[in-house]
This record gives sequence, structure tokens and C-alpha cells, in this order.
Amino acid sequence: MSDVLPLTSSPTDVGRPAAEPILTVDGLQVSYGKVSALRDASITVAPGQIVTIIGANGAGKSTLLNAMMGALPATGRAEGIVRLRGERIDGWSIERRVTNGLGLVPESRDLFATMSVEDNLLLGGFRRYRAREVGWTQEIERVYQIFPRLQERARQLAGTLSGGERQMLAIGRALMAKPSILMLDEPSLGLAPKIVREILRIVSSLRETDVALVVVEQNARAALQIADYGYVLETGDVILQGPSGMLAQDPRIIESYLGVGRKRPEMDAHTPITLPGPGTTTEETAP
Ligand SMILES: Nc1ncnc2c1ncn2[C@@H]1O[C@H](COP(=O)(O)OP(=O)(O)OP(=O)(O)O)[C@@H](O)[C@H]1O
Ligand SMILES: [Mg+2]
Repeated sequence: MSDVLPLTSSPTDVGRPAAEPILTVDGLQVSYGKVSALRDASITVAPGQIVTIIGANGAGKSTLLNAMMGALPATGRAEGIVRLRGERIDGWSIERRVTNGLGLVPESRDLFATMSVEDNLLLGGFRRYRAREVGWTQEIERVYQIFPRLQERARQLAGTLSGGERQMLAIGRALMAKPSILMLDEPSLGLAPKIVREILRIVSSLRETDVALVVVEQNARAALQIADYGYVLETGDVILQGPSGMLAQDPRIIESYLGVGRKRPEMDAHTPITLPGPGTTTEETAP
């Protein structure tokens, strides 16, 4: 059972007028053979909302996203209820979930390295092409507006892009499918602070396009800055949830996820933290 911060607002009315949830997960459990990766996860996402899932390595964040997407590895077994606009989807194939508006940018980004940026984007719209959806290629103009850098590099091979550009392409490709819920697994992973800020600014601006976002992050500070609501996962359990502003002030979060000495301080999107190493002195005391 997770600890809900004492507030009048619920997961669905933070930052938005009250709305029916678009996605709900109820009592989701996932195991890989004998390894229990997720025990009893319940989350709610409202249309146009940004929800973040924060937690340390191995907490079960990717497992949660992959289970919602129906994309667990063969050894993964999920139980629990996932609903999209009230309809139960946990038995659906990935294809059916994508067609109905779910999108996932995996931690691995999964780009086609030897294809151009533009071809990678076009592949993102393949299902819409196959469904003979009229005007689906126009989506590419919208993606180029969101990420002008991708347009500049339209003919460049995806494998030659920088880390930040690759993340932009992975998000852009997912947007080509026109999702109503886009799940991003660690968009800041391995990126320099300046690029993290740029990516998260763009991610945050996507809310204007009415897509709901579920953003998984180890970089809790950055995630709580852009999200409306957050869930904290610890070794397979949701241990805390609440509006982002409240979570950011919660002593347990500050101590475990926002304090100096966090695992990946170099990825902080707000202020790059420089930790003095053992035996070093600060500027003030240096000779
Ligand atoms: N394919 C798998 N087979 C067996 N165990 C797995 C598999 N994938 C994940 N696990 C285990 O499930 C647990 C949750 O892993 P998961 O990848 O979901 O965590 P995470 O929060 O995304 O971590 P990270 O921040 O490192 O990406 C871990 O104990 C992990 O070792
Ligand atoms: Mg992960």
C-alpha cells in the first residue's frame, strides 16, 4: 500500500481540470521467473497530464512501463488490471495498444542506426500508413516543429547522431504514431545537463499537444520539476505518491532522491552539482 500525501487533489486533478483518467493500472504484479520485480503497483494518468515514476536502479520502473505496453520479455509474467479509457487492455497485443494510443520510448531508444533520421520517423508512422490513414505523413512537419534539430539532420544516419539528438529522434518517432499516452523510459539517461534541460523542456511542452506523459526517471529533481504527479517505486512497491510539488518537499524524497550524494548528480537538470572528492578542498578553503 502506498503512502498518499495528505492533499485534497487526486492524481487526476493536478494541474488540470478534473478529468476521467485515460489510463489506470490496478494491482499490477510482475515477476521474471522467481524474481518478483513489481508487487502491487497502481497508478492513474489523466489526459494531458505528466506523471513521473521515480526510483533507484532495479526499483521496477522499466518493468512497470513495459507491462503497461505489453512489451515484457518472454520470461516476464504480469498480473493485474490495466485500463485505457475504462477498457481493460492487459490482454492486448503491443500492436493493439499502439493502435489505441499507447506509445513507449524504451530506455534503449531502439533506433535504426543505418537509416536516416527521416526514415526512422516515417517508420514511426508505419501503422498509420498500413491503416491507410489519410495525411499521416503531415505528422512529420509537427515533429520537425517540436525538434527543429531533427529537420536540420533529416538526411543524416541515425547512428551518427549525438546522444541528445538520438533521444529527440526516439521521442519524435514515437510521436509519429500520434499517441494519446506517451511513456518515456529515462529520457535523460546518459545526457549532459544542458541537453537534459533541453529534452525535458520539450517533453514538458508536449502537454500542450494533449498527449499524456508517463516519465520514468532516476533524476528525481528534474522529473518532479516537469510532472504534475509522481509515484515513488522502491524494490517493486509504490511507497509514496502525490502531487510533484508535495513530493519535492517530502523529507523522505529529499533524503533519498534529491540530496547531495545522489547516484547520478551529473544528470541533474536544475543545477549541476559538483561533489568534492576525498581529500579535495572547496574553492573557499583552497590555498
Ligand atoms: N528480463 C529480466 N529477467 C530477470 N529479471 C529482470 C529482468 N528485467 C528486470 N529484471 C529484474 O527486475 C527488477 C526491476 O528491474 P527494472 O529494469 O524494471 O528496474 P528499473 O527501475 O527500470 O532499473 P534501472 O533504473 O536500472 O533502469 C530488477 O531486480 C531486475 O534485476
Ligand atoms: Mg529501467
